[in-house]
Amino acid sequence: MFSTEKLLKLINNELVVQTSELAGQKPGRLYEPVKYSLEMGGKRLRPVLLLMANNMFTDDIKDALPAAVAVEIFHNFTLLHDDIMDNAEVRRNNPTVHMQFSENNAILSGDAMAFLSYRYLLKCSSARLFDVVHLFTNTALEVCEGQQYDMDFEDRQDVSEKEYIEMIRLKTAVLIASSLKAGAILAGAGNEISSSVYDFGINLGLAFQLQDDLLDTFGKQNTFGKKIGGDILANKKTYLLIKALENASGEQRKKLEKWMVPKAFDPNEKIEAVLDIFNQLKIKDLAEQKIDSYFSLASEILDAMPVEDKRKQPLKELSNKMLGRNH
Ligand code: IPE
Ligand code: IPE
Ligand code: MG
Ligand code: MG
Ligand code: MG
Repeated sequence: MFSTEKLLKLINNELVVQTSELAGQKPGRLYEPVKYSLEMGGKRLRPVLLLMANNMFTDDIKDALPAAVAVEIFHNFTLLHDDIMDNAEVRRNNPTVHMQFSENNAILSGDAMAFLSYRYLLKCSSARLFDVVHLFTNTALEVCEGQQYDMDFEDRQDVSEKEYIEMIRLKTAVLIASSLKAGAILAGAGNEISSSVYDFGINLGLAFQLQDDLLDTFGKQNTFGKKIGGDILANKKTYLLIKALENASGEQRKKLEKWMVPKAFDPNEKIEAVLDIFNQLKIKDLAEQKIDSYFSLASEILDAMPVEDKRKQPLKELSNKMLGRNH
């Protein structure tokens, strides 16, 4: 069994090899942002989850490493484009790629990363590679669908909780779930158990995105690595805002809606005004309860899996850590 530290080391070593190969490649303006993004850190959750799922069924995780690297590169590609769409200036406590280089660079280097991720995936020598390529391709399309809903919702005030959950399932949860499932598939796990690994990932991913939304408003920039309040400024229909619109009094609702209209405003003033209403309505508590409910669903699925307890332990610990739980 591999520890989280050992898995992280394997992934980071492999990424260092890949980025140093890219370092000399021309044109530099295409590959430098790729290197910048991959060297900027990040929690490496998806590749670790992939290898942990793999290690749940096999001791030989070598064959899964290219898929783990691929999913991390794919994830980073989505961030380059996401940060343009979200107007985000800071990620992992560093300037985002479009700020550090240019918007065009972030678009094109992002495209290159999408293809690079497939190139690494194709290094897998597993007989089940075809299934994994199929899974990733469908997942990539789903992420695009989720990102489009995310943007569509910026202009709507009537987004329901159900629509929101479907949007975050697509933009975030499916990639986490597919990483886990790919690990299981590459280890030769059967269809039924691979599906429950996927379902575990969906519930974990939903809890994770709900927490990301919570931290975007209530977190600290230093630990979160992103500017606080970005979702409020962009009129993102987060769980927080949906619940606030749902529970607001006439007066509060009018105020919230008023802040969503102007294109020009004082950012701090808008963040403070919206936050004030969130606090009046105890929205943070509601979000925490929702996170708990998806986390419990994920835990139940993992607990029910017909796998030795000891082999589930790393996934159990990592999912706790992902959601800031210390037990
Ligand atoms: C950020 O993902 C995007 C979301 C789905 C919330 P992570 O929080 O995993 O980002 P890094 O890679 O650790 O920076
Ligand atoms: C992340 O959603 C979804 C994808 C990157 C596909 P967010 O827009 O909330 O992610 P952050 O907060 O910028 O990391
Ligand atoms: Mg974003
Ligand atoms: Mg986004
Ligand atoms: Mg976010």
